Amino acid sequence: MKRRDFLRLLGLGGIVFSTSATGLILNACNDSNESGSGSMAYDPRSEEGFVNMLKIPGEDGLYGFLEPEVPFEMKPRQMDAEILPGMQTKSYLYEAQHQGKTFYNPIIKIRKDDALDITLVNQLDEITIIHWHGLEVAHEDDGHPNNAVGPGASYNYNFSVPNRGGTYWYHPHPDKLVGEQSYFGLGSFFIVEDDENIALKDALDLELGVNDIPLIIQDRNFNDQGQLVFETNPMLQTLGVLGDTILVNKTVKPYLDVDTRIYRFRILNASNSRIYKLSLDKNGTKIPFLIVGNDGGLLDKPYEATEFFIDIAERVEILIDFRGHEVGDDIYLKSGFFDPMDPLVDNMEYNRPNTLLNGDEFYVMKFNVKNQRNYNLRVPETLSIINPIDTTGADERMITLPNPIEGVWFINNFRFEPNEVPLTVNRNTIETWRIENAPLAMPHPMHIHAFQFQVLERINSPDQVSKLAIDSSGRLPTDMGWKDTVMVWPGEIVRYAINFSTDYAGDQLYLFHCHILEHEDQGMMINYKVV
Ligand code: C2O
Ligand code: CU
Ligand code: CU
Repeated sequence: MKRRDFLRLLGLGGIVFSTSATGLILNACNDSNESGSGSMAYDPRSEEGFVNMLKIPGEDGLYGFLEPEVPFEMKPRQMDAEILPGMQTKSYLYEAQHQGKTFYNPIIKIRKDDALDITLVNQLDEITIIHWHGLEVAHEDDGHPNNAVGPGASYNYNFSVPNRGGTYWYHPHPDKLVGEQSYFGLGSFFIVEDDENIALKDALDLELGVNDIPLIIQDRNFNDQGQLVFETNPMLQTLGVLGDTILVNKTVKPYLDVDTRIYRFRILNASNSRIYKLSLDKNGTKIPFLIVGNDGGLLDKPYEATEFFIDIAERVEILIDFRGHEVGDDIYLKSGFFDPMDPLVDNMEYNRPNTLLNGDEFYVMKFNVKNQRNYNLRVPETLSIINPIDTTGADERMITLPNPIEGVWFINNFRFEPNEVPLTVNRNTIETWRIENAPLAMPHPMHIHAFQFQVLERINSPDQVSKLAIDSSGRLPTDMGWKDTVMVWPGEIVRYAINFSTDYAGDQLYLFHCHILEHEDQGMMINYKVV
């Protein structure tokens, strides 16, 4: 049976859903027919027009590096931001003041084991809470939706950072509102430094914000007035919200001038529902680079690659060596064509407002090779020691991601209920999890709070995935090391090992969910408890 026919049987052909779109534009009138039209001036399928300087994190302001020395407040609020040149876009940003500087969506930068004291002060007109994605913190510091606070209210976080060095991030996590609050702009990086990261920095003479650059990639829809249009309806909750405009660090069609040396890029896919298959393109040729890190920090060693998938919430760190190129060369970061294995493309009856679908080919940003430099440093052969989790005698837990039932997604037989706990694990035990995705579903980026895991194997991967595998277990370079989010394709099984050792006293309530924000908001999320 073809995917299309199967999906019709499931009712994805528009029977179960009302397809009338409801648009949400902050402080503007609902005019959902306009979505996308304002975006076409910045069509990412054209390699022309990459003339906007990438917003690079600096000492303060938008995405400034904030190194916590004293307690500070994070105030999510509505404000205007210039995203499209010459236009003010109503956005949500986290505002923070720290030692005389003002930040918006600060990149928090901290040493492993250092402590911080952050108070969320909610200045939105709806509930919110901050989740520190990937951090191994106690339940009360994890930003569980049950801890969301209303307008004007506060929530204090007080913890020290137990994680390895790496590129983590933070974003809102209120029940059913993650998609909307993220779409309008909330979220940023949380960078942890440790000895291994300092060793790499020293070996390559890297400097954060100069040649070690965080890149947050997102897709959005703008109307003609430059306002974000967030459309939602039951159908879009199932398929996910896509945007026709691609942003990097809230810059549309960005460029970065580079020297002929090695750069480190810390890439985060913070889109609501878009998967990217990233590569570097110079005149139609793919240029190799090194994958050195992912969700939980550095890998054991660099892995050479020419492309990789990055799903929502995943981080991939790459090193690009611009020494092989000439001043004047243009190199593009590109998202290549792939089969999205997504009911959407099989479901043409539903007339989606977007023109840029998952799996379409487009340009993300441009590197202009600008300055010749003397640079003779070499990438170390070893980056880190990854000790494999010992799974001898570990129990295997089965997780099933079924096809949507009456148009909604489930984990096993469950959807999110704030006070239900469908899954309990014993503290200080090691488990293996076997996540099996239905053959006619969608790719789901499955994320667990509070513990990093190790991917053991991929079984029955689609060809476009298995051809990127680097070992007999079907693992990809981006599966090595430590992970908190893993993409599970339709028909695929992913097994991982996870060690539930914890020092936090008492039962710990955390979440396991799909990180497509619309799926998460729809309830493809469950509580789990460590007892
Ligand atoms: Cu970024 Cu509950 O997740
Ligand atoms: Cu998380
Ligand atoms: Cu999903």
